[in-house]
Amino acid sequence: MIGLALQGIRRRFAAPVPRDVLDGVDLSIGAGEFVALAGPSGRGKTTLLRIIGGLDSGYQGRIDWPDGPPRRRAAVFQDPRLVPWLGLLDNLLLVAGRAAEPEARDLLAAVELEGREDAWPGQLSGGMQRRAALARALLVEPDLLLLDEPLVSLDHALAGRMRALLAEYWRRHRPTVLLVTHDLREAVTLADRVVVLAEGVGRVSLQRGIELPHPRDPADPRIDAIVDALLRFDPGLAVPAGKEGEAADSI
Ligand SMILES: Nc1ncnc2c1ncn2[C@@H]1O[C@H](COP(=O)(O)OP(=O)(O)OP(=O)(O)O)[C@@H](O)[C@H]1O
Ligand SMILES: [Mg+2]
Repeated sequence: MIGLALQGIRRRFAAPVPRDVLDGVDLSIGAGEFVALAGPSGRGKTTLLRIIGGLDSGYQGRIDWPDGPPRRRAAVFQDPRLVPWLGLLDNLLLVAGRAAEPEARDLLAAVELEGREDAWPGQLSGGMQRRAALARALLVEPDLLLLDEPLVSLDHALAGRMRALLAEYWRRHRPTVLLVTHDLREAVTLADRVVVLAEGVGRVSLQRGIELPHPRDPADPRIDAIVDALLRFDPGLAVPAGKEGEAADSI
């Protein structure tokens, strides 16, 4: 398990107009902690995740790893990034090695893709591809798991089952998790702490510890109360009308 500490992270994009998308992000995440980075489009969530994931080095500021850098870092990005000419099972084994086949099959079944092991990514819906990317990420038993909207576009029931899977995986293996989500309720249901980036400022505007014990019942009214409190602080956190359930593709 690893923790990380971000200090003064700043990211400027030159085009179309020069702009600091992140402008002094300070954030510490404890080893084995589950943190959700919530908030609407355009606040720099993916930009921050890419920097932590080592995919973007054009930033200023510091990232410290108090327990040493992660040995196994896994990520699910908004675009699932599967290899298009390999079947799903082979996509998973490409990273984990052939010896991991039994675990890979189990994980594909756990994300409800049993029977699709030989399908090419292009034959599957976006939600299915993202679930395969989630299975691939879990297969390597990461000590740092970065998730960028992994459950978007899944129907309500399936998203709920995938949340339960993620919660159970985290309880059992205790990776450090940073989950980006538009869905405040998802953030509060899963995370130890919800972090929000301010609108137009590029800095953390709010951090709220979620003290509820695990495992959590998504129907727990205390979750609604916390969601309501967060919305009062920043009404911009509400899921835009039409976003939830849009393009649901569970089949
Ligand atoms: N490579 C880039 N070049 C220029 N601008 C960029 C680049 N990447 C991101 N941006 C801009 O930075 C801002 C934040 O983008 P980012 O993708 O981090 O937002 P986000 O919070 O993840 O949004 P969403 O919820 O829609 O995924 C946006 O205005 C985006 O247009
Ligand atoms: Mg994003």
